[in-house]
Amino acid sequence: MKASRDSETIAENASALSPLLETGLLRATEAAAIAASDFIGRGDERAADMAAVEAMRTVLSAMAMRGRVVIGEGERDAAPMLYIGEELGSGDGMAVDIAVDPLEGTTLTAKAMSNALTVAALGASGALLHAPDVYMEKIVIGRNDGEDYPPNLISLDAEIGDTIGALAKAKGVKPKKITACALDRPRHDALIRDLRKAGAALHLITDGDIAAAIHAAAPSSPIDIYVGIGGAPEGVLAAAALACLGGQMQGRLVFSGDEQRRRAETMGITDASRIYNLSDMVRGGVLFAASGVTSGSLLDGVARGQDGSFSVNSLLLSSASGEARRIHAHYPPKEGAGKRKRR
Ligand code: FBP
Repeated sequence: MKASRDSETIAENASALSPLLETGLLRATEAAAIAASDFIGRGDERAADMAAVEAMRTVLSAMAMRGRVVIGEGERDAAPMLYIGEELGSGDGMAVDIAVDPLEGTTLTAKAMSNALTVAALGASGALLHAPDVYMEKIVIGRNDGEDYPPNLISLDAEIGDTIGALAKAKGVKPKKITACALDRPRHDALIRDLRKAGAALHLITDGDIAAAIHAAAPSSPIDIYVGIGGAPEGVLAAAALACLGGQMQGRLVFSGDEQRRRAETMGITDASRIYNLSDMVRGGVLFAASGVTSGSLLDGVARGQDGSFSVNSLLLSSASGEARRIHAHYPPKEGAGKRKRR
């Protein structure tokens, strides 16, 4: 029997970056979320992060790939695991770039606040921008009712008030119908003032700008634009999600001091003021996975059964196919877990 055209397309897409890599990436974020969930509300950001790092690394190490961490926990001398340049995987199979944020929202986890995630992305070697661990100025929009906005609608060089006006015009609404999202930080005081002056409603977040960028791109979200300065590693991971969801994004690295600039140079970044478009941050097919640690606007958090089982909720995206999966995984209890001791 001849397969339908749709199933042929699905099969073609599946073979681009192997389904095994998809499953592995998903399991890596799920394992990190389960590990970090032990530390929800415990006030220990470092312990929560370490647990997520170890769990994610264990899964990535077992995957059939020749992986190299390009976005990780920091430089080799500062981070013992998942450091930039660490090689992971069985050593067989495809050479891939790996970007990780094993716990996006260490404070959110430590304080049991919403929206803590575990995040990872991968693509063929050379697919992802090798960004240093500095800040990045970011601006993100999605699509307009399934259609692309005019190219270059957003620009980091434009006044934010003008961008809000242009976005409102392209959507066919008044600027007061635009909702912008930004991190609530003193460094954004002028940005927040200008967004309000332009008429936009403002959704301020305490942490977690990968989720914010995804919200800006997701069709059903009330957020129309994400803007502001956050981490550069989070910027590249957000770009991987955007490459899958569709939309526009720009990023520009923000350096504080010559030492940071020197480090960036060693990673091949020679133009410190360069604006990166989405296609500069993500080249070719990528996979993106995120799992919820605490429940939030993007994903529900880890749930523990009394028998020692876990449920984890994840988002798995592929840029080659444009497919987006929401996955609810149930992990049965480990042998012996949850059983009462007999006296
Ligand atoms: P964590 O390090 O606690 O995971 O923080 C995540 C985050 O809020 C990112 O989402 C964001 O890009 C960055 O921190 C912002 O950095 P800062 O807290 O220094 O403003």
